[in-house]
Amino acid sequence: MPKIPARNRCRSGPLKEVSLMNVTIKSPEEQARMRIAGRLAADVLDMIGQYVEPGVSTEKLDQLCHDFIVNEQQVVPACLNYRGFPKSICTSVNHVVCHGIPNAKTLKNGDIINIDVTVIHEGFHGDTSRMYFVGKPPVIAERLSKASFDGMWRGIEAIKPGATLGDIGHAVQAFVEAQRFSVVREYCGHGIGRVFHEDPQVLHYGKPGTGVELVPGMAITVEPMVNAGRRHVKLLSDGWTVVTKDHSLSAQWEHTVLITETGFEVLTLGSADRDA
Ligand code: MF3
Ligand code: CO
Ligand code: CO
Repeated sequence: MPKIPARNRCRSGPLKEVSLMNVTIKSPEEQARMRIAGRLAADVLDMIGQYVEPGVSTEKLDQLCHDFIVNEQQVVPACLNYRGFPKSICTSVNHVVCHGIPNAKTLKNGDIINIDVTVIHEGFHGDTSRMYFVGKPPVIAERLSKASFDGMWRGIEAIKPGATLGDIGHAVQAFVEAQRFSVVREYCGHGIGRVFHEDPQVLHYGKPGTGVELVPGMAITVEPMVNAGRRHVKLLSDGWTVVTKDHSLSAQWEHTVLITETGFEVLTLGSADRDA
């Protein structure tokens, strides 16, 4: 999820003039490629679940995903070397909000971890993340993960031609805050296609009816970061890892979604949620 430049951040309304936006509309052929990219990214998350257990390092999870993407799927791990990011996936544990860098530290019983995978297939990106529990998590962590998951789906279900980005943000925010959790504001979802992070920025908070209008053929991610405590975050000195300022737990789920004539199509469903 891209960082929102401070000068573009504001309390309401579009982040940039709509005329300065560079939103791409995907042709049917491009949509077909995005569909495959999305499915491949989801397949990586399906594959890695069995390895998330006490004692495994996040570096090991990265290596397993990297080898699967490169050797079995024969596609490209988009995160590797993206703006200098050193690994193929992001692993964000407990109070890490996003962009955690896989390392030698091992997971322990009760940890929660977001694994975020992006692959490039025939030039198009598929981007998705899920929460995993290591052994038995605290009840609050389960509630937090569910709030992020359900909040993401509230946002996705607001998607249809004529709806706006503000409708998505509002749907997520209203749901999450009603449970007395908070929504991170400094990082957002994004347009996606040939470019990993394209316009528009997809905020996970906002006002109904504001911002860019959704049009069939657009592709975006919805990826709310939800904190158990306050919404504020800080960036660690490695230049990537984002943590909650108050060290409270954070959770995130992400799908890549195509806007269709009638509504939306989620491109990154796992095999258990796909038909046939
Ligand atoms: N996959 C993340 C997103 O959802 C972006 C990760 S960029 C990286 O947008 F460089 F940290 F990998
Ligand atoms: Co994303
Ligand atoms: Co992602």
